[in-house]
Amino acid sequence: MRLVALLGSPRRGGNTDTLAEHMLRGAGEAGLETESLALRSLRLRPCLGCEKCWRDDRPCLLPDDMDQVYDAILRADCLLFATPVYWYGPTTLLKTVWDRLVVFNRPQGRPLLAGKSALVAIAYEEEGPDAVEPLLRMFELSFAYLGLLWAGSVIADGVGPAVAILAKPEVLEEAYRLGMSLGV
Ligand SMILES: Cc1cc2nc3c(=O)[nH]c(=O)nc-3n(C[C@H](O)[C@H](O)[C@H](O)COP(=O)(O)O)c2cc1C
Repeated sequence: MRLVALLGSPRRGGNTDTLAEHMLRGAGEAGLETESLALRSLRLRPCLGCEKCWRDDRPCLLPDDMDQVYDAILRADCLLFATPVYWYGPTTLLKTVWDRLVVFNRPQGRPLLAGKSALVAIAYEEEGPDAVEPLLRMFELSFAYLGLLWAGSVIADGVGPAVAILAKPEVLEEAYRLGMSLGV
C-alpha cells in the first residue's frame, strides 16, 4: 500500500505541509509506503480544454512536469490532496492538477483512478466550518465523479501564519491517527 500526498500550498513548511507530514508519518508507522510531491516545485500549466486527451488515445501533451504527478497518482493506492483554503477554494497549484485529471475521465482512464482511496488535508485562517464548505463539496463531488473512495479528512481552521498549526497539537494528532488508520 502506498500513500501519495500532493502538497498544494505555495508555502513550504506551512500549515498544510505540517498536517500532511503528520498524516504521512502515521501512515508510514502503520506500514504504508509514503511519498509526497510538492506541487510548488513543479512546472505545471493549466488545462487548455482542448479535449484531445478524450479524443485520442494518448496522454496530455502539454510540455510540463505533470507527468511526474500522473506517475505518482498511478503508483498510489491512497491519495492525499493537501491544500489551504484560498478564496474558499483550493490553491491554484492544486486546482491546476485537479483540472488536469480530466485525462482520467475517458473510458480507458477511469479504471486507472477509480477505486483508489482519497483523503484531504486543509488549513485556513477563518474560524468555523463556513469557509471550508465549498472546498469540501468540490472534493466530495469530484471524488464521487472520478470513483475515488473518500477515506477521511483533517481540517484545521483558525490558522493564518505558517506555524500556527503547531498551537493545535490535537489536530496534528488527528492527522497522525488518520494516517495510521490507513494501515488497518
Ligand atoms: C491568496 C490567499 C487567499 C486566502 N483565502 C482564504 C480564505 O478564503 N479563507 C481563509 O480562511 N483563509 C484564507 N487564506 C489564509 C490561508 O488559508 C491560511 O494562511 C493557511 O494557513 C495557509 O496555509 P499554508 O501555511 O499551508 O500555506 C488565504 C491566503 C492567501 C495567501
